[in-house]
Amino acid sequence: MSLSYKSYNTWSVSVRVFHWINALTILSLIFVGLIMLYKKELGIVSFEAKIGLKELHVMIGYIFATNLIIRLIFGFIGPASARFSAFLPRKGFMQSLKSYHDSIKTGNVQQFMGHNPVGKLAVTLLFTLLIIMLISGLIRAGTDIYYPPFGGAMASYVAADGVDPATIKPYKEDGVDQEKMASLKAVKGPFGKIHLYTAYFLMFLIFIHIAAVIRAEVKEGDRLVSSMISGKKILSEKPQDE
Ligand code: HEM
Repeated sequence: MSLSYKSYNTWSVSVRVFHWINALTILSLIFVGLIMLYKKELGIVSFEAKIGLKELHVMIGYIFATNLIIRLIFGFIGPASARFSAFLPRKGFMQSLKSYHDSIKTGNVQQFMGHNPVGKLAVTLLFTLLIIMLISGLIRAGTDIYYPPFGGAMASYVAADGVDPATIKPYKEDGVDQEKMASLKAVKGPFGKIHLYTAYFLMFLIFIHIAAVIRAEVKEGDRLVSSMISGKKILSEKPQDE
């Protein structure tokens, strides 16, 4: 039987630009994050290098954060493929999941212009983790090295009476009120744990995400990878979500 292919405009420019900036910044954040975690084993011992790595991570973090915040705004006001309604599970979702699952079993896999139902779940989970990384990262940047947006307030909080907060330096005790520093550390610790364990979970999901995309590309003929570059999907069947 001969198949007839049709091209569909799938992902808007905003979704594609977000996706690749997101992928690049996350990979860089993981790379620098892992160096920070294993600095001793890597022979990085100087205090300046330790702080320098944190600053580099936070700078890349700001690009990641700006990109994510713009994407979240587009989730409300952007084109159809960027809207939250394009992936957040809604009424009838369980039914569509079941019917997609059944179609895989029969071998005649349903095709979609946007995300397939499993993809919708994955994207929802990924966005949730990214938001947790964004919030915990910004809080960590403020409480650990006094970087914006919360760093100014944190330095003012820990500065001893009469000390200019601008003179407070990360990991230095000069001019610091010890009691306030102890309570800042009590807040900083849990956010550090959230940041680290969410990063591990995210690395695991990124691995699954890449494996699933390759599987869809090879088995379902979705041309998912090229569609995230060109914005077009070429499908052999009428998509379920046309
Ligand atoms: C998906 C995005 C991100 C990933 C995968 C990531 C990953 C990591 C990892 C693996 C660490 C090392 C954990 C540790 O040393 O305990 C770390 C630490 C850190 N991250 Fe992120 N990060 C992300 C986003 C951000 C953002 C947006 C910011 C802030 C702008 C940020 C700020 C920090 C800071 C300040 C630390 C150092 C904390 C410390 O030394 O205890 N991160 N991050």
